[in-house]
Amino acid sequence: MMELTQATLTIRTMVASDIHQVSQIEAENYIDPWNAKIFADCLQVGYQCVVLLCEEVIIGYCIVMHVLEEAHLLNIAISQQSQNQGLGFYFLQHLIHDMQQDGSKLIYLEVRQSNIYAQKLYEKLGFNIVGKRKGYYPLGNGREDAILYTKYL
Ligand SMILES: CC(C)(COP(=O)(O)OP(=O)(O)OC[C@H]1O[C@@H](n2cnc3c(N)ncnc32)[C@H](O)[C@@H]1OP(=O)(O)O)[C@@H](O)C(=O)NCCC(=O)NCCS
Repeated sequence: MMELTQATLTIRTMVASDIHQVSQIEAENYIDPWNAKIFADCLQVGYQCVVLLCEEVIIGYCIVMHVLEEAHLLNIAISQQSQNQGLGFYFLQHLIHDMQQDGSKLIYLEVRQSNIYAQKLYEKLGFNIVGKRKGYYPLGNGREDAILYTKYL
């Protein structure tokens, strides 16, 4: 696999023609993936939609809903073959820096209780657990709790 260095990485705003690649990464990562229409709606309503590329190939994306000084991180994923190489950390650290510059004061997000890797990523970036949302996510025939994280900027 191609070596990933910061020199080969680009972060830019998502555009409609990215949705096909983004949806493929989404499908490989989630048991209840968003479909292409949901990503198109996110672009249309003006959510912050950002992609991470390695030499022109999309390897990650993030969707954030901003309400005044609060940022709700709705979705972030890195393509499976690029995971666990520091890219999620690099990507989110960059986004957090930009949000701070743009005046956001608080970021919050939900994560599945079983999603230990994502929880480690958020904790490494200084997020704190502030609560739990019972049965927030579908899981087979049942539901799974979400852990609610926040980070003050
Ligand atoms: C969560 C996700 C975005 C993290 O991205 P990533 O590029 O794999 O993460 P990083 O390589 O930057 O790792 C950051 C930290 O997460 C943890 N981590 C990530 N992947 C890991 C793995 N496979 N094994 C162990 N720890 C892991 C580690 O603590 C790591 O820090 P460390 O290497 O200093 O110990 C990515 O795994 C992903 O896309 N998962 C599927 C989608 C998802 O769950 N999104 C979050 C929904 S809330």
